[in-house]
Amino acid sequence: MADMYVRFFDTTLRDGEQSPGATMTSAEKLEVARSLARLGVDVIEAGFPAASPDDLEAVRRIATEVGNPTDGSRAPIICGLARTITNDIEKAWEGVKSAARPRIHTFLATSEIHMQYKLKMTREQVLDKVREMVCLARSLCEDVEFSPEDAGRSDPDFLYLVLAEAIKCGATTLNIPDTVGYTTPEEFGALISGIIKNTPGIENCIVSVHCHNDLGLATANTLAGIQAGARQVEVTINGIGERAGNTALEEVVMALYTRHATFNCSTGIDTTQITRVSKLVANYTGMSVQANKAIVGANAFAHEAGIHQDGMLKHQLTYEIMRPELVGANQTRLVMGKHSGRHALKQRMLELGYRMGEEDLARLFERFKALADKKKGITDADLEALVSDELYQPKEYFKLDGLQVACGTMGMPTATVRLFGPDNQARVCASVGTGPVDAAFKAVDAIIQAPNGLLEFVIHAVTEGIDAIGEVTVRIESNAAGQVIGAQSEMDQLRTFGGYGADTDIIVASVKAYLSALNKLLAATGQYETAGQTEAEV
Ligand code: KIV
Ligand code: ZN
Repeated sequence: MADMYVRFFDTTLRDGEQSPGATMTSAEKLEVARSLARLGVDVIEAGFPAASPDDLEAVRRIATEVGNPTDGSRAPIICGLARTITNDIEKAWEGVKSAARPRIHTFLATSEIHMQYKLKMTREQVLDKVREMVCLARSLCEDVEFSPEDAGRSDPDFLYLVLAEAIKCGATTLNIPDTVGYTTPEEFGALISGIIKNTPGIENCIVSVHCHNDLGLATANTLAGIQAGARQVEVTINGIGERAGNTALEEVVMALYTRHATFNCSTGIDTTQITRVSKLVANYTGMSVQANKAIVGANAFAHEAGIHQDGMLKHQLTYEIMRPELVGANQTRLVMGKHSGRHALKQRMLELGYRMGEEDLARLFERFKALADKKKGITDADLEALVSDELYQPKEYFKLDGLQVACGTMGMPTATVRLFGPDNQARVCASVGTGPVDAAFKAVDAIIQAPNGLLEFVIHAVTEGIDAIGEVTVRIESNAAGQVIGAQSEMDQLRTFGGYGADTDIIVASVKAYLSALNKLLAATGQYETAGQTEAEV
């Protein structure tokens, strides 16, 4: 039987970025979009352009720069989300129209609960709105996706009606969301089969599935949707997203690959890029991946128990259903050393998928040499950490220039920090704390004075060995009520920001991570922006 092609619609930059703490800067979003294109996703949902001018600008940049590849590769579809509101749809079009293959995605809820309490609309009114707004979207863009929000809890007969109207008005993809992650695989599969069987005109459209993970069933439901005939899956990297998240891209891809005989599906995904994109997203969002997470967790390919290790030594297939290199997780191989030159570094970075300008390469080479002086062999994972730390940081209003700590059992942990500020002046402060990290963060706080709460601090070694690079991710919450640009409610004030830092000295890595989160917070408050200049323009 011939394989069926399943399209991957990645919504890391929209549904993923929407989740608390996952806020990314425009530059980070662009880099994630580039990585998603290299990974081979078919559709990139780049954002929700009506949310703010910065969101619109980020989508526009992705559409222009990632949606028009110059290396001969196939352009991914660039999609913008819109509520069924004229302004949203026009903004979405403004965001995506420069892409070679633009798409508008509009949605309206169809469950009784949502229609009655949230929308306060009757079924007739919902039908009218869908007709009106899908027609508007289609008048602007040939590729239109419609989603009946909360489809998982909607009356199937009403869904058939709404979807049929959306098709008549020109929708080309019908996406079925289990918005609150409520359904079971059997129910969700049956819902998709019912829609395919009972919706007039659906044979000319792509049926898509979009599952949330509130009961931990998102991947199972997505696979059930595919088995029932869905040919597009909406997913995020590491499964980030609203509440418990969305379906994880890596889980669906590897299930389709590893159980090919069961699903008979092919995809456009280059699986060897998975680990890399997973790390990039974790670093930018500050949302670290749990060690036992399928496919991309630190322990996903680790065999600890004696019986397992014994089995693995006798034959890999005893305990391994897929090879780590298939998902690019074999990064501990030593690839470079002290004597490797700039050309070798450039070559290795190209092999890893990074096309770097000369200036970026020069900065990376400097960091690489400094690391090679401290560490015997340098691995791909080390190189990735250096790239994230050196090149893909938010705009640095404050930059670490010097750090000295005194700690141990003999006295009070003390840190002295020197930062360069937006005016390029050095500022120095010393603080004591409960430990060296606490003392250093207090010194940073005393200089920057951006009230915040530390929500999460995670540290781990990139590779094994005492000379390993330490990677730190932090998440902070803004405490400065009323300051976040575009905040419309108290909830918005409590935005959280992630930061990433890497260094062989873990206190330095910690301060860098903290500064990278604080710089994002400062970008959101806009207090150091010159008039009229947005973060997207920086
Ligand atoms: O979960 C959901 O219903 C959504 C829609 C906008 C597709 O994210
Ligand atoms: Zn969603």
